[in-house]
Amino acid sequence: MNLISARNLFLLVVILSLQTHLGSIIQRLIPLCHASPHTLRHTHYQNIAISRRAAALQASPENPDDIFLSTTPYWLNQTLDHFDPQGSPKFPQRFFEYLGFFKAPHGPIFLTICGESTCPGILNDYIAVLAKRFGAAIVTLEHRYYGFSYPFEDLSTKNLKYLNSKQALSDLATFRNHYQDLINARYHRSSTIADNAWVTFGGSYAGALSAWFRLKFPHLTRGSLASSAIVNAIQDYFAFDQQVAKSIGPKCTQALQAVKANVNHSMRKNATLLKSMFGAELIKNDADFLSLLADSTALAAQYGFQDLLCKPLVKSFDTKKNMLVAYQTYVKNTIYDGFGINPIDYNRDNMKNATLAGPNSGSRLWTYQFCTEFGLLQAAPPTNSLRFSQLSSKYYLDLCSYIFGEETTPNSDATNLYYGGNDIAGSRILFTNGAQDPWRHASKQVSTQSEPVIVVDCQNCAHCVDLSGCPQFPFHPQGDASLCKPRDSIDKARILIEDYINLWITS
Ligand SMILES: *[C@@H]1O[C@H](CO)[C@@H](O)[C@H](O)[C@H]1NC(C)=O
Ligand SMILES: *[C@@H]1O[C@H](CO)[C@@H](O)[C@H](O)[C@H]1NC(C)=O
Ligand SMILES: *[C@@H]1O[C@H](CO)[C@@H](O)[C@H](O)[C@H]1NC(C)=O
Ligand SMILES: *[C@@H]1O[C@H](CO)[C@@H](O)[C@H](O)[C@H]1NC(C)=O
Repeated sequence: MNLISARNLFLLVVILSLQTHLGSIIQRLIPLCHASPHTLRHTHYQNIAISRRAAALQASPENPDDIFLSTTPYWLNQTLDHFDPQGSPKFPQRFFEYLGFFKAPHGPIFLTICGESTCPGILNDYIAVLAKRFGAAIVTLEHRYYGFSYPFEDLSTKNLKYLNSKQALSDLATFRNHYQDLINARYHRSSTIADNAWVTFGGSYAGALSAWFRLKFPHLTRGSLASSAIVNAIQDYFAFDQQVAKSIGPKCTQALQAVKANVNHSMRKNATLLKSMFGAELIKNDADFLSLLADSTALAAQYGFQDLLCKPLVKSFDTKKNMLVAYQTYVKNTIYDGFGINPIDYNRDNMKNATLAGPNSGSRLWTYQFCTEFGLLQAAPPTNSLRFSQLSSKYYLDLCSYIFGEETTPNSDATNLYYGGNDIAGSRILFTNGAQDPWRHASKQVSTQSEPVIVVDCQNCAHCVDLSGCPQFPFHPQGDASLCKPRDSIDKARILIEDYINLWITS
């Protein structure tokens, strides 16, 4: 088995560090849900958000402590296959801790779950605000295969078979007990007294992990915050496109339909010319190019920056100016230059490349996860689709088998059977959602006594709004709420969140 030993990994980290400068060091330090899109090229965007942050830091150095409470990594020998009765090899998994707010030795411990990206450390974010309030320690574990916690050097499909949410949850359980032992030893805390009160947090996919952790290991956590948690593995997720249209509003939708007609026309005239207008001539497959355009639109709704898309587009629509140029300007300025997306990443051959494990391979890894476990294919709905009808379920399924091999197809039903989907039957799980987030329909929306739901309803209330504020681009780690309209929608939600956490750790 081609497992990386901890020693080799250490060497790799040293080599990478030697090659790097401040910018790319921070580039490896990625946030959670703060820029955690579930568009196809998911993790990639997170890397971008942080690299832009790093560039800003270089231009005007400030104290990195403002962003991170800790970036000192620790390592755990993790079991590769938790379900192999014969025993299993280990791989090195990275974690971080911050004890600056901890009321030692009996204070609560907040486990911030890291999802489908490199885990940078402990962010100085809204969870830190909560930790301070409750005197909690903060710990976070990098998700297996992502960042530096990879078991195999190459990411060929056969090596990805231990990449799934079940293994990830068992990693978290193992880590939770490992860290409790560390705390007991460090503070000479007797292991015969009750464990510290653990609370789990996560957003987006990590939000689902947070909910499922409480569901599967209720004895290991007192409660879970599940922000924009995609617990419902819907195979054909039409509601994504429909919600994007709703969030940007009818006028902007109308303008985008006009853009679509222009794109269709230009595409049939000369596809190469059209692609080169978007700096995307290297994307060979036409539908891959259309998927880049669909993501460019969806990101505005997902991160609460509709104004940047819609204001110039509607203006151009009203004055009958060239719509395509207005849209191209938005894609170039906001999506490429602002968000940092590189169109070539939409070329399917790039995701097929299994050469390297490491911090830049997140896009292949997340694609594998939705191509096997979740589905959530952002397929064009049968009617009134905002995206091109070519982006059908078949398009996404073909992409999965092109990248990972013939048999690769999402088993959403099995995932929902295992966790319950929207009927998840847990307790002390608080679901939070942004009213304008296109992912909200894959989350729990109906409140029950044991699994309350808060939908934060405001203009710009997007993905993980409770943790990240509005809008979530440019990236504000502290979760700036000042642009949420009305602002008190999020303030009220945060008061409720505190009340629930208080209830969990005191009873
Ligand atoms: C992991 O296991 C290896 C090999 O047994 C050992 O050398 C190393 O110290 C362990 N690392 C940790 C962090 O326990
Ligand atoms: C399409 O546009 C490209 C790039 O401008 C050009 O090289 C090519 O000749 C055009 N093809 C046709 C059929 O007009
Ligand atoms: C895959 O990626 C590696 C590393 O970036 C590169 O050297 C290699 O040429 C790529 N292979 C293919 C087939 O594109
Ligand atoms: C493009 O326009 C043609 C002709 O009007 C139409 O048949 C086709 O469905 C359109 N394609 C898309 C993707 O909208």
